[in-house]
Amino acid sequence: MSAPYRIPARIETERLVIRRYREDDAEALSEVASRNREHLLRYMVWAQYEPQTPAQRRLFIATVNADFDAGTDYTMGMFARPDGAYLGGTGFHVRTAPERLEIGYWLDAAREGEGLVTEAAAALTRVGLEFAGATLVSIAHAPTNTRSGAVPARLGFVRQDAPAEYTCHDSGQPVSPVDWQADAAVLASDPLSSFPRPSLFDADGTPLAWPDRS
Ligand SMILES: CC(C)(COP(=O)(O)OP(=O)(O)OC[C@H]1O[C@@H](n2cnc3c(N)ncnc32)[C@H](O)[C@@H]1OP(=O)(O)O)[C@@H](O)C(=O)NCCC(=O)NCCS
Repeated sequence: MSAPYRIPARIETERLVIRRYREDDAEALSEVASRNREHLLRYMVWAQYEPQTPAQRRLFIATVNADFDAGTDYTMGMFARPDGAYLGGTGFHVRTAPERLEIGYWLDAAREGEGLVTEAAAALTRVGLEFAGATLVSIAHAPTNTRSGAVPARLGFVRQDAPAEYTCHDSGQPVSPVDWQADAAVLASDPLSSFPRPSLFDADGTPLAWPDRS
């Protein structure tokens, strides 16, 4: 299928709310992103521009939400349940050759090691393949980013022989990423099959029904 994909505005897992950003997230985003500048700098190019002003942050939120509406990129925030604490960023990039949704993520260093990103990636993989209309979901990372690569490996994604068709960054240098992919067969196998379907909601908060399993 071609983009735009059908991506819910809000996805709830056992410990997480993954949702579109709202303008009033600007303050929490600023606090967490600027506090994590050093943690993020090596692999997230945008971290070099931290800290940003509240006005820049509101512009970022408006821009990613316009992309979301246009179906060109689906940036979302990760928040803790039940207190709503902002934990980091995730969502889908739209990739081609082959057509797929690529999951991205970064996490507040204070919350590493709890399996939160693995839980988010499992939910997003199911959303991508069972709800959004993608036939492939991928995760890519710089070769040295073993902590990032451990997420798709833990979920049973298949490491590809060929690298992704674009470059990512490692300490400011462009590098060829390692690419992992999951399709319906991977989703139906352990460990992904043991993650429950997350709850889905549209922008008004109305629950969205999962398609019947065929
Ligand atoms: C990459 C990144 C998101 C990974 O975060 P993470 O905390 O290691 O990933 P998870 O939240 O899935 O946690 C996994 C860890 O929790 C442990 N864990 C605890 N409970 C768990 C559970 N229920 N399920 C899975 N793992 C669990 C795992 O054993 C693992 O620990 P280990 O690294 O000691 O083996 C984070 O390091 C980060 O933000 N890095 C900087 C930005 C970045 O590189 N982004 C990716 C760019 S491609």
